[in-house]
Amino acid sequence: MSGDAVGVGLIGLGTIGTGVAKVLAGNASVITQRLGFPLRLVRIADLDLETDRGIDLEGIRFDSDATGLIEDPEVSIVVELIGGYDVARRFTLQAIDRGKHVVTANKALLAKHGKEIFEAAAKRGVDVAFEASVGGGIPILRSMREGLAANRILSLHGIMNGTTNYVLTEMEKTGEAFEVVLKRAQDLGYAEADPSFDVDGVDAAHKLTLLVAMAYGAELTDADIPTEGIRGLTPLDFDAAAEFGYRIKLLGIAKRHEGPDGIERIEARVHPTMIPRESLLASVDGAMNAIAVNGDAVGPTLFYGAGAGEMPTASAVVADLMEIAREIRRGSAGRVAPLSYVPAHLERKPLVPPGESASRCYLVFSADDRPGVLGQIASVLGEHGISIQSVIQQGRARSATAVPVVVLTHPAVEASVRSAIAEIDALPEVTAATRLVRIEEDL
Ligand code: HSE
Repeated sequence: MSGDAVGVGLIGLGTIGTGVAKVLAGNASVITQRLGFPLRLVRIADLDLETDRGIDLEGIRFDSDATGLIEDPEVSIVVELIGGYDVARRFTLQAIDRGKHVVTANKALLAKHGKEIFEAAAKRGVDVAFEASVGGGIPILRSMREGLAANRILSLHGIMNGTTNYVLTEMEKTGEAFEVVLKRAQDLGYAEADPSFDVDGVDAAHKLTLLVAMAYGAELTDADIPTEGIRGLTPLDFDAAAEFGYRIKLLGIAKRHEGPDGIERIEARVHPTMIPRESLLASVDGAMNAIAVNGDAVGPTLFYGAGAGEMPTASAVVADLMEIAREIRRGSAGRVAPLSYVPAHLERKPLVPPGESASRCYLVFSADDRPGVLGQIASVLGEHGISIQSVIQQGRARSATAVPVVVLTHPAVEASVRSAIAEIDALPEVTAATRLVRIEEDL
């Protein structure tokens, strides 16, 4: 290997892997000037050896032998970019076991198996870096871990999935139905053929899992995060949101609560959310991501940028490679705990039970247009302690018998809202399941 370069092995030469190879080659001079030594891509493993990725592989060993790559003494850092759970987990643990540092963009892997992976890395004295796993090219994890390390994090609100943000932006702009916009997003390559991870909020929940761990030292998995996606939204919801001064975004939300007993409890959830039109997050459109973090010392901060894509994601992967290469040179692996808290202070923290979180709500009831129906709905809400702030009932089309009744509530506890909805949906005059979108004002 040339001079004093640090050797990198890349498993997975898909879109992001190709971007990593491009950044390492194209920005080699600036990387070397910043590090004081070069990073060298010595080896790539992928099952597809045929497709031309438009990169120069001269001098790089390229084959399908991921295990050989991990074992290769010239490889000091293994980049895992194959995605998914099982094979990625196996290669990651195998690399750690061989004393190799690992860089990954795989939030799904870390949200499920992070504890096992981070513990193995700490035991073996190697680093696992994963900046690209949340917010693509936005350096949010490094900022949480280091730039904001002095703060108690009061709240965090993130648009962390570009696919859904694109779909929501288009639905609002065109007035088209979810399915129509999703199909167009798929045709344009913004959405996967199987879009469920994105549109059902799973990808955002994976990312929120990592952010909550970093913000609060809370050991959790994505299964701990109540998650709702965007499939249920209709054009009416965007019109009503606009009328009330809101936009709709899929948010990952985390908050710190301190009870009278002084015990800290963490609230974490993912769902479509109405947010004030004038808030900074509301202006984040298309496939872009943004994360607003409010710290007790720093106050509100906002991180904005491309949450996906070949070059933005590669930017984050290569920054991780540079950080680890420095640690290798200094013999200081493990300098910063990967989840910001040292392992002794990462623990299962009390979470706010889903039914206990409170927010203002936007509710859409579909009911027969008959005298007394609105009164019935209002009295069920009242019986559950839910106070109405505004109501809109639009006129019905001549052929229709049902009308949407849109209600905005004052802050209400989730469990009460759920019980009220169940009771209302059982009324004979109610013709379709009630829709709920929560409202967040303090962003
Ligand atoms: N599928 C993700 C998104 C990108 O749409 O934002 C990868 O995290």
